Amino acid sequence: MFITFEGLDGCGKSTQLERLALRFDHINCPYITTREPGGTPTGERIRQLLLDTRTLALDPTAELTLMFASRAQHLRELILPALNEGKIVLCDRFTDSSEAYQGAGRKLGTPMVLELHRLLCADKKPDLTILMESDVAASVERARRRNQSRNDQAPDENRFERENRAFFTRVHTGYLAIAKREPERVSVVDARGTPDQTERKIWELVRKKLNLK
Ligand code: TYD
Repeated sequence: MFITFEGLDGCGKSTQLERLALRFDHINCPYITTREPGGTPTGERIRQLLLDTRTLALDPTAELTLMFASRAQHLRELILPALNEGKIVLCDRFTDSSEAYQGAGRKLGTPMVLELHRLLCADKKPDLTILMESDVAASVERARRRNQSRNDQAPDENRFERENRAFFTRVHTGYLAIAKREPERVSVVDARGTPDQTERKIWELVRKKLNLK
């Protein structure tokens, strides 16, 4: 089972991914957690390049290509082997992020992203995608605060957070379009409540999908 988490920066994805992992611990279900961009040593180096504010004037097409370079490595080095070993893979962001951020946010369009996914990632789709639906302004504000409060040793990961409200509104619209196109795979979860409420909603979905009691 390949489960991905999607949503705007600061929507609480990472917290919910960790909470879901704890649930799997409790029921002794083998899993791995990972993230994009990143997830492998090479992917983490690509991540630095992509998120660092010192990366200046990166063309959207180059940005998209780097996202896919990280993903192609991630899929072959980590995700597919783990799935083959029967493990659940919990992944923070996957190709839907490229469709929402580069396709919609950067206006490269969906077809280019889906075509790269088909060519470079064997069209591998998650079994379940949890799209955390949050308020655009509140999410971005939270992400900015979080990154500003990081200490000096933490990597600089602010390049996307510097984007404006119009960019994140396009990303949000892009996500909703994916959910509408693939309702079987993508479940939209209202993430505006408390973390506990959101956790319960996500667990319900996952339990159903995995046929757990
Ligand atoms: P992430 O670490 O999940 O940030 P956050 O915790 O703030 O949500 O993701 C890093 C950034 O990379 C995020 O701003 C979204 C962006 N991104 C893309 O633009 N395209 C992609 O394909 C991926 C995977 C991420």
